[in-house]
Amino acid sequence: MATLLATPPEWPRITLGAVGQYDPADGLAGAERAGAWAAWRQALAADPETLVALVRRAGLRGRGGAGYPTADKWRVARAQDDPVRFVVANGIEADPGAFIDRTLMELDPHAIVEGTALAAYAVGAHDAYIAVNAAYGVALERLRAAVVAAEDAGYIGAAAEARGFDVRIEVRPLQGAFVLGEETVLLRALRSDRGMPDQRPPFPAVRGLDGHPTIVNNVETLAAIPWIVRQGPEAFAAAGRGGLAGTKLVQLSGSARQNGVAEVPMGTPLGEILEGVGGGMAAGSVLKALLVGGPAGGFLPESALETPLDPVALAAAGAILGSGQILVVDRRACIVELGRLMERFMSDESCGKCVPCRIGTRRLFELADRATSGRPRPSDPQLLLDLAADVRDGSLCGHGIHAPNPLLSGMRYFKDEYDAHFNAGLCPAGVCQPLHVTTVATATSH
Ligand SMILES: Cc1cc2nc3c(=O)[nH]c(=O)nc-3n(C[C@H](O)[C@H](O)[C@H](O)COP(=O)(O)O)c2cc1C
Ligand code: SF4
Repeated sequence: MATLLATPPEWPRITLGAVGQYDPADGLAGAERAGAWAAWRQALAADPETLVALVRRAGLRGRGGAGYPTADKWRVARAQDDPVRFVVANGIEADPGAFIDRTLMELDPHAIVEGTALAAYAVGAHDAYIAVNAAYGVALERLRAAVVAAEDAGYIGAAAEARGFDVRIEVRPLQGAFVLGEETVLLRALRSDRGMPDQRPPFPAVRGLDGHPTIVNNVETLAAIPWIVRQGPEAFAAAGRGGLAGTKLVQLSGSARQNGVAEVPMGTPLGEILEGVGGGMAAGSVLKALLVGGPAGGFLPESALETPLDPVALAAAGAILGSGQILVVDRRACIVELGRLMERFMSDESCGKCVPCRIGTRRLFELADRATSGRPRPSDPQLLLDLAADVRDGSLCGHGIHAPNPLLSGMRYFKDEYDAHFNAGLCPAGVCQPLHVTTVATATSH
């Protein structure tokens, strides 16, 4: 099972609030004692607009990466003149090595099922899907059990009509590439279509599944909603720092003393997360950088440890919040080589639909590859910057838009290291081998 990291006692527990309070492999009774489905009963006693207004007051923003205000998205779907609407919970989490959503789905499946039902009530959807990474066997099993238990109790499913609202929830395993988590790809996958993003607008909230308004929300976003209903929007809004609302699950990996998943107040400085959650650096390790936001994230140096966990501040610093992954990089690592690996991943995972991403990420990888193998050309640094801007500005979806981040942030904060590779064929960290290429002058005959 994934490791949950302890957090300072004064930090609020919202998304993980019921974790450990009931056995997710057990029936409904334990979950209900831990508070499950109380919000559902409470919400049904008022009209859907009340629920939307509540979530708006809470200031909840999507936890799937883009940080879009959840209530605003719901309002768009509600405003559509179409009686058929859908809700899709995004539990794909295709980032390599990520297990934030898996942890949540395994440890509190009822919060996700209840959150999905609440979103469906808010937008008037009678059909919902919880799309789960097919590799997550335990999560699938527990979510399915939670759905069946909620149906048996008459909360959801056909029998729920008597309570005033019925929603059918299907747990659907899906398998695919990194881009499967992108919302338009996810909707295509639910209908067994080819996994390539669609141009937006129209956004799914206007035209999604089968052409109907569809809300796609990350499972962590949805899991927060029952808590907001039970505890009140003000409590959620106050849980963050620096004017940000709520908490975010993050995952520490790499060279921290402790690696795993933890719930932290939004707006917490990165350095505080490393110290307060990760226990600082592992023995013998010295911090060089944090890669924040997964393979399309940015390398931030020690001088950026004050940056808060805030999508806007992270974007300004050259990273992304993404799914909340924080890779702690030790001084012995080479930032250029790590950037090359990230770019390789982004290139391999490009779906190929648009040229800037399909060709551009490959060329970016090749530039990084030349730098790490001692074959850079004098024009490479400028070419990399120009190409990165083209890929970022010309790509169709977030995959290409963010793909240059690891290289751009590396060039921004670790310029000396890039200069050494590009200009002198040297790897200061001693990681890239062989960097010294001897050009043998050969006599040519004319
Ligand atoms: C390449 C790519 C991969 C994505 N993967 C995920 C994912 O695994 N899970 C997720 O919730 N959102 C993912 N997203 C974001 C979704 O498109 C969408 O913004 C999100 O599910 C909306 O939920 P939210 O508003 O609750 O954040 C991805 C986006 C892109 C561009
Ligand atoms: S940006 Fe990349 S992943 Fe997104 S549509 Fe274009 S080729 Fe596909």
